[in-house]
Amino acid sequence: GAPVEVDISRIEPGQLITVEWRGKPVWILKRTPEMLASLKQVEPLLADPASRVADQQPRYAQNDVRSIKPDLLVLVGICTHLGCSPDKRLAAGPASGLGDDWLGGFFCPCHGSKFDLAGRVYQNVPAPTNLIVPPHSFLSDNRILIG
Ligand code: FES
Repeated sequence: GAPVEVDISRIEPGQLITVEWRGKPVWILKRTPEMLASLKQVEPLLADPASRVADQQPRYAQNDVRSIKPDLLVLVGICTHLGCSPDKRLAAGPASGLGDDWLGGFFCPCHGSKFDLAGRVYQNVPAPTNLIVPPHSFLSDNRILIG
C-alpha cells in the first residue's frame, strides 16, 4: 500500500481523527498537556510501559510518549488481541463510562482490553501487547506521512 499524507493543521488539542492506511484505521490524536500528564500516572497499571516489545512501534517512537512530537500520537486502531476496533474513551473519569479512576484511552468492547493515551496495554487484559504505532514522519509542521 502507498503511504498516506495527512494534513494535521486543523486537529484541535484533545481531538482524534481517523485516516485509512493499507485498509486499516489509523488514529491521529493531538494530546493535551493533561493527557500527556496521565501517561506517567497510569504507568504502574500497564503491562509494557516502556514499550519494550520492539515490533509494536518504530524505534523513533520507542519512548515515554510513543511519538515523535509529544502531543501527536499516531496509532493503528486495531486491538492486538483479536483485531476488533477499540472504542475511543479519551475523557478521564466518569464521563468515560469506565469509572472514576479511568485516565483516558481506548477500550476494546470485544473482550475488555484497555489501553492508555499512548496505546499502551493495561495489565490483566486479553490483549498481549501495546497498540501498533505505524511508520510515520513529519513532512512539515502541518503534514505527516504514514507508511
Ligand atoms: Fe480486543 Fe479481544 S479483540 S479484547
